[in-house]
Amino acid sequence: MTKHMETIKFLRLLKVRGSKKLLHLLYFPLWLLFKLRNLGFTHAEKDTEEDPRVSKERSIRKLLERIPGGKFLEVGIGEFPHFERLKLINEHSISYVGCDFKSVCESHEEELAIKGFDTKNISFAMNSTGTYSWTLFEMLQKGEQFDVIYVDGHHTFYIDLPAMMLADKLLKPGGYLLLDDIPWSLSFLKANMMRSLSQWYFYRTMYNFSDYTKEQQSLPHIKMIAEELLIKRSGYKKDENLSLPHWWVLRK
Ligand SMILES: C[S@@+](CC[C@H](N)C(=O)[O-])C[C@H]1O[C@@H](n2cnc3c(N)ncnc32)[C@H](O)[C@@H]1O
Repeated sequence: MTKHMETIKFLRLLKVRGSKKLLHLLYFPLWLLFKLRNLGFTHAEKDTEEDPRVSKERSIRKLLERIPGGKFLEVGIGEFPHFERLKLINEHSISYVGCDFKSVCESHEEELAIKGFDTKNISFAMNSTGTYSWTLFEMLQKGEQFDVIYVDGHHTFYIDLPAMMLADKLLKPGGYLLLDDIPWSLSFLKANMMRSLSQWYFYRTMYNFSDYTKEQQSLPHIKMIAEELLIKRSGYKKDENLSLPHWWVLRK
């Protein structure tokens, strides 16, 4: 591929992301209002030694090497595609399914197309409303099974309790269940949304803080569900070599 074509792709990606950022600015007054409503709110964060994203990617890389030709399901794919991770997925002939809101999946499809990415092993399972639990239930009805399931969606009790139970059923025996942001709480999210306009913009319609009491907002829902249901009651074991304080790799 010529340098000229690479530059054109880069500029097209920049244009797509730039127009999204511009849209964020239109919402600036509403973000200020959110900050005003939560004036006085504080959330203390613990420092970590290494950038957690770097150690997490290292763990994912090792896992992908263990499942050549396997099936990988990601529940909650985030704002932008992880091109490097998807490249690795392709290199190991792994088939990847990403689950998220329709708008998020379509934005990934657009960015992958701009990059000219090989998507023959990549697909998306979208929900236009509600949650990915419906999509996961439909996968179960079709008898789908995965070697690795990475649950990294809403991170809250009412949404992720059914999702994690369904993920357990969709996972092959001996498969890996990956959980990110183990210490994550709604209070942590609120602090991030107050700090960053783009974080507030992306998550503003997804969370209703009033679904939970103040105490429940400060608790790590994913960690609680994983400990009580998966580890204590369903026999999952934490892979100590691949797990980190914020990132758990559980073996079924
Ligand atoms: C933390 S991000 C995922 C990050 C990604 N897994 C990564 O490794 O960078 C959480 C994702 O969950 C999605 N999500 C949250 N609630 C959802 C719902 N009810 N239905 C579908 N997707 C949802 C969000 O749209 C967002 O893309």
